[in-house]
Amino acid sequence: MIRVTIQGIALALLVGLNMVAAAKAPEAKAPEAKSAPAKTAAKAPDASQKCIDCHSEAEPTDKSAAGKPVLLDPLKHAKTLHGGGNAGCVDCHADEGLKKYPHKSPGPAQCASCHEKAVKEYATTIHGKARSDGRMVAATCSDCHGAHDIKATSDDGARTARGNLEATCGACHGNEKVIKEGKIPGGNVSAMYHDSIHGRQLHGDTKAKDKVPVCTDCHGTHDMRPHKDPESAVARGNIPETCGTCHGKVKKVWSASQHGKLRASNVLQAPGCTDCHGTHTIADPKTPKWQLDVINECGGCHTDFVKSYRDTYHGKVTDLGFATMATCASCHGAHEVLPKENPLSKVSEQRILETCKACHPKANANFVKFQPHANKNSRESGLILYYTTKFMQILLAGVFAFFGLHTVLWLYRSLAEMKKRRAGSTPEAEKH
Ligand code: HEC
Ligand code: HEC
Ligand code: HEC
Ligand code: HEC
Ligand code: HEC
Ligand code: HEC
Ligand code: HEC
Ligand code: HEC
Ligand code: HEC
Ligand code: HEC
Ligand code: HEC
Repeated sequence: MIRVTIQGIALALLVGLNMVAAAKAPEAKAPEAKSAPAKTAAKAPDASQKCIDCHSEAEPTDKSAAGKPVLLDPLKHAKTLHGGGNAGCVDCHADEGLKKYPHKSPGPAQCASCHEKAVKEYATTIHGKARSDGRMVAATCSDCHGAHDIKATSDDGARTARGNLEATCGACHGNEKVIKEGKIPGGNVSAMYHDSIHGRQLHGDTKAKDKVPVCTDCHGTHDMRPHKDPESAVARGNIPETCGTCHGKVKKVWSASQHGKLRASNVLQAPGCTDCHGTHTIADPKTPKWQLDVINECGGCHTDFVKSYRDTYHGKVTDLGFATMATCASCHGAHEVLPKENPLSKVSEQRILETCKACHPKANANFVKFQPHANKNSRESGLILYYTTKFMQILLAGVFAFFGLHTVLWLYRSLAEMKKRRAGSTPEAEKH
């Protein structure tokens, strides 16, 4: 009889609680479908109460032996994502050493009991592997997510929210001391990214703010690999695909170019997006400075063509810093580079007049006979140029030879005269 009553009261309580929960439901966010962990996993609340009793009082100390803060505001904690029944202290601090007082060498907090998938994925990432190899400077769960302040990524205040990732990753990738200690490649990547066109749009008040890539858009999150791993989203061979997720139109044009075609047949020497644009330093391609800089990128691979280009009027003037002059890309295109035999090439017989006309409106068939890559030391580039160059070289040599001879003769004459003067002056001096 009594039993039934207790059950009745318990049932009534449960129904009441459910009604409260139902009334709150419209505000409560539906759990993310990705990997909603079992909400029922929280262990005996009284086990956690013991921890809270001690850890919410200033006694016996407010700092651990290692100087870490050990005080916790239980009311505040209850309102966090993992407080209020989602996880008790002992769910994360499951180490046996913490059940004894004073604690005996407690191990790190664990997440695996509820986030099995994330923990497994993390183990395969660059950071997870580095840690399991003993390089403890690498990021662990709490470096990216926090500890008692973990928020869902969709929350603007989360460390993993788009706007905060630069700082979250920057705690290490923007910290010279950590970079040195962890021998992290790339240097201060966060600062570079901050000043890039992507970073500036992210921090500025622009329309593209929500569309520019943050670190994890290019690198992935729980599938992040080092750039040397061919499976990585930022491996040399995969970069155009990664940039292409947002710059689809450019990628399409590039894919049809000689450079893109070579990449498709696995010639990794051909340039992908970052050879010309850089990675964390991507700048506005419309600025004159960048357009002049990219000549050197083309020239780094096409050494002969940049040499001959520098011999031309265009090349000499761009060398002085004027970008209104024709750069490599003005004549060949940027993403549509093709051999001149291809009729679609901007320098093909079919299209070259149109290309020059963009800047030389009066250009005609004769004008385009001008050779932008004349090798003045080769007969193949035209006999006139060849012989003019040869004539100039002979003339120059002749002039120098004449001056050389002239100087030698002059010296000879001066010496002779000096000798003569000295010979003549000696008797004179004796007279006095
Ligand atoms: C009797 C009081 C008491 C109880 C109960 C208690 N702690 Fe502590 N705990 C402390 C004190 C004091 C420190 C700091 C001194 C130290 O370094 O051990 C501490 C330190 C810690 C630390 C930091 C360890 C480190 O150095 O990184 C963790 C984590 C911790 N406690 C978790 C727990 C958990 C979880 C429980 C419940 C299972 C718990 N504590 C129960 C008193 C207590
Ligand atoms: C979501 C998991 C999670 C829960 C729940 C949790 N902690 Fe922690 N706690 C962490 C992590 C992560 C750290 C950072 C150190 C580490 O990785 O071991 C930490 C650190 C600590 C520390 C050491 C202070 C420091 O900054 O290193 C204390 C003390 C502590 N927790 C007590 C508690 C108490 C008491 C509760 C229950 C009210 C609790 N924790 C609940 C994950 C958790
Ligand atoms: C290098 C930073 C980093 C590390 C280390 C990291 N995460 Fe994450 N994690 C993220 C980011 C960024 C997101 C958001 C991903 C997204 O929106 O695609 C995320 C998402 C999540 C999510 C929610 C989405 C999902 O995939 O389930 C969980 C849960 C999670 N992480 C748990 C963990 C755990 C547990 C660990 C440690 C084993 C860990 N993370 C390590 C950066 C990190
Ligand atoms: C007792 C189970 C439990 C443990 C242990 C636990 N979590 Fe959680 N975690 C949850 C629950 C429940 C949620 C809330 C899921 C929801 O509402 O979508 C959550 C949410 C999260 C989220 C937000 C996911 C999102 O949607 O963006 C992250 C990140 C996260 N946990 C990280 C961690 C980390 C890191 C640890 C270890 C330090 C940890 N959790 C330990 C149960 C747990
Ligand atoms: C637009 C895409 C993109 C963004 C955004 C981006 N990266 Fe990268 N990252 C790359 C590419 C591509 C590489 C490979 C570079 C290479 O092959 O030389 C790379 C390489 C790296 C490396 C290896 C060192 C190096 O430079 O080769 C680190 C570390 C790194 N990125 C961290 C970050 C961090 C931290 C952020 C955010 C602040 C970030 N990245 C943002 C594309 C990006
Ligand atoms: C707690 C410090 C720390 C944090 C936070 C951190 N990293 Fe790292 N990261 C490292 C260390 C250390 C390495 C070098 C790992 C090794 O030794 O192999 C590394 C390596 C990398 C690499 C591989 C570089 C390569 O060789 O190509 C990338 C990419 C990277 N981190 C990106 C990120 C991103 C993106 C974030 C933020 C979501 C982040 N990291 C957060 C410490 C950190
Ligand atoms: C997540 C999407 C995304 C990814 C991935 C991405 N970008 Fe961007 N990028 C943008 C957005 C958005 C802008 C700003 C566009 C604007 O201002 O019109 C931009 C701007 C640029 C600009 C300047 C364009 C201009 O007209 O001023 C260049 C160059 C550029 N990105 C190159 C790259 C390269 C190279 C990569 C790969 C390493 C890359 N992007 C990856 C979204 C992305
Ligand atoms: C061979 C060098 C080179 C390669 C490879 C290259 N670009 Fe460019 N890119 C340029 C030049 C030069 C410009 C400036 C063109 C102009 O001023 O009209 C440019 C302009 C851009 C712009 C802004 C203007 C526009 O056309 O929208 C974006 C975005 C861009 N590139 C993205 C990419 C992406 C993504 C890739 C890889 C699929 C890539 N680039 C590959 C040289 C290159
Ligand atoms: C990372 C090296 C690299 C960079 C940077 C580069 N190229 Fe190329 N380019 C190549 C390779 C390799 C080929 C194929 C050469 C071949 O087939 O003999 C090629 C082919 C070409 C062709 C077709 C000619 C031919 O012989 O097939 C033209 C035109 C060209 N590039 C112009 C440019 C211009 C203009 C730039 C700068 C905007 C540039 N390239 C940047 C490596 C590069
Ligand atoms: C004023 C226009 C112009 C400029 C500027 C220019 N080129 Fe050219 N380029 C041409 C023409 C026209 C041809 C085809 C005739 C020839 O080979 O001389 C050509 C041929 C080439 C070829 C060989 C193409 C093939 O199909 O064999 C390459 C590679 C090349 N240029 C690279 C460059 C590079 C790199 C730069 C910058 C350093 C550059 N060009 C600047 C007009 C130009
Ligand atoms: C991006 C603009 C641009 C393009 C494209 C261009 N040029 Fe020029 N070029 C100039 C400028 C500016 C001068 C400076 C003299 C002037 O204003 O005519 C110049 C000067 C010259 C000169 C020497 C001065 C003269 O007028 O006698 C020749 C020759 C020449 N260009 C040929 C060509 C040929 C051939 C092409 C096409 C293959 C071409 N240019 C494409 C901008 C360009």
